[in-house]
Amino acid sequence: MNGVSRRSFTGGLFAAAVAAPLAPTPACAQAPITLTAQEGLAQLAPSKYPKTKVWGYEGVVPGPVLRVPQGRRLTRRFQNRLPQDSSIHWHGIRIANAMDGVPGVTQEPVKPGESFLYDFVAPDAGVYWYHPHYKSYEQVARGLYGALIVGEATGAPSVDHEEVLILDDWRLTREAQIADGFGAIHDAAHAGRLGNWVTVNGAGEWTREVKRFARLRLRLINAANARIFDLDTRGLTGWIVALDGMPLAAPQPLKRFALAPAQRADLIVDVAADSGGEAFLLTMERDGGYALATFAVKGEARPKALTAPAPLPPNPVPKLGDLGKARSVELIMEGGAMGGLRGAMLDGKMTSMRALVSAGKVWAFNKSAGMPAEPLLTAERGETVRISMANDTAWPHAMHLHGHHFRTVAAGGALGPLRDTLLMQPRAKAEIAFVADNPGEWLLHCHMLEHSAAGMMTRIRVT
Ligand code: C2O
Ligand code: CU
Repeated sequence: MNGVSRRSFTGGLFAAAVAAPLAPTPACAQAPITLTAQEGLAQLAPSKYPKTKVWGYEGVVPGPVLRVPQGRRLTRRFQNRLPQDSSIHWHGIRIANAMDGVPGVTQEPVKPGESFLYDFVAPDAGVYWYHPHYKSYEQVARGLYGALIVGEATGAPSVDHEEVLILDDWRLTREAQIADGFGAIHDAAHAGRLGNWVTVNGAGEWTREVKRFARLRLRLINAANARIFDLDTRGLTGWIVALDGMPLAAPQPLKRFALAPAQRADLIVDVAADSGGEAFLLTMERDGGYALATFAVKGEARPKALTAPAPLPPNPVPKLGDLGKARSVELIMEGGAMGGLRGAMLDGKMTSMRALVSAGKVWAFNKSAGMPAEPLLTAERGETVRISMANDTAWPHAMHLHGHHFRTVAAGGALGPLRDTLLMQPRAKAEIAFVADNPGEWLLHCHMLEHSAAGMMTRIRVT
């Protein structure tokens, strides 16, 4: 097995694979289809453990895979059957601001028993996802998330199978129930709420049968609150063809890579393992690689592997304007454990660190903890803007901008791929640039959900 291990549940020993619940994909219809957030039960842990009480869209984890062709409308009436307010944010979609799902910024929270009609166009093909933007550190941790796949209008790659794989990291008790303590200040000040049980599509061990030399499109989403997955494969060769939904200009040969919270990656892989063997998607941990997805190889799809795929067709994202003339702002990230933050603005007042902590805040952007009174920047529609970010903390952060995709700008001017979430290591600096072409108020926050709740939150305004 090439040093691949199966994970074991908190002290328990098991071998059984858990089948993923098959989520129905609603078909198109005239009356809006509902999407209901409600309680449910999911067999997250091995079958000898009880089912876990979760909150899920349609009561399942993950929620249904929503599919819409590029350039078309997606309409869902969101129904809140949870015991607390909620909303849906369509992560990574360059959406109309009123549909962005951010309570207090783009809409009122949806109260228990109430509903909200989401109706928007999906301009870009790719893999996106949906999740609440209200107490997301609790609601996402309880299982509220699902994939949103926007199909290429033309030029979809030809593959034998496509799999949407949503990775999550749960903190479970010995009875396999979700541990409480959501948003705990200790987690918030460190790496966020890390779990003790990893699932793919809600399953402790996700498996599929494939043929040797079959070509697969794997669409990965990291839905964990805080865990950065360090991913590798065995018995699969291939390419990363898109990141955060956006096609790479050239497919990039697949090797070990990090997938931070909220990030996505589209892989095209060919099964290289022999018939009778197994191939794996692995999470690399300190003590070795653990199987996230296992592909049992039976038979051959063709006599030899296919040749490299063509790049995916590009999405209609506007090209950056003159970077030399672009409006530019700085964003300094501070705070957290071992950060030495003395104080920051909170609700318009300079506040000591001790008082910040008692208000649940331990992080700051530009010396402001939580949503500042004024946006980080105000741009005119169509303007190219640059944000130069410095992670002046001892922790990694996954910086997410709503409503836009950006590129990193290296010191020499080289541009990175289009992304909506950027992993920044401790002490790292990064500059991003984008065309602010989508009017409205857009959040910019860390997607380690405890970090954003504890202060790593700002917004930009496009007029
Ligand atoms: Cu995926 Cu502000 O969120
Ligand atoms: Cu963070």
